[in-house]
Amino acid sequence: MSRLDSFINRMSAQRDILNHVRDVLDLPDGAVLEVGLGNGRTYSHLRENFSDRRVVAFDRQFAAHKTLAPAAGDFIEGEIRETGQTFVGTKAALVHADIGTGYADKDAITLQWLPDMVAGMLAEGGAAVSGLPLSHPQLEELPRLPSVEEGRYFYYRKTA
Ligand SMILES: C[S@@+](CC[C@H](N)C(=O)[O-])C[C@H]1O[C@@H](n2cnc3c(N)ncnc32)[C@H](O)[C@@H]1O
Repeated sequence: MSRLDSFINRMSAQRDILNHVRDVLDLPDGAVLEVGLGNGRTYSHLRENFSDRRVVAFDRQFAAHKTLAPAAGDFIEGEIRETGQTFVGTKAALVHADIGTGYADKDAITLQWLPDMVAGMLAEGGAAVSGLPLSHPQLEELPRLPSVEEGRYFYYRKTA
């Protein structure tokens, strides 16, 4: 598969799952956390589709389009492994994490801390959507959507 097709698949999987979460899951109260702002495409989608919620974005540095600058206090700059800790226990409704690199060795390091962090950020009944698989006893994987390739993107519900 070409890199272009792979990118398109990742983007459409992301959008389809986020739209499904919006339409089908009854999310608890709470913020939406965008773990990996990047150029802000998904952040823009989250703001449009979860417009009644605070959307907080994390990245090493702000590199999104200027029109997407989050409100003061809603962009958290730095290494997410550290900055994300301040949102553990805040009972978010939805965490979206798009911080996979495509390099198995780097992603293996991320996966040493990301699942715990995401589970800790969420309220019970909250949803996690991720490009990397999040193996955690409190994150129940939800059934793959027909439009999403096996192993392409994952989503979960936090259990008690
Ligand atoms: C694939 S991009 C996210 C793309 C985003 N969904 C969008 O719509 O543009 C991943 C982003 O996460 C950031 N990132 C990855 N790992 C990080 C970490 N450990 N700490 C802080 N930022 C990180 C990168 O700097 C990059 O901007």
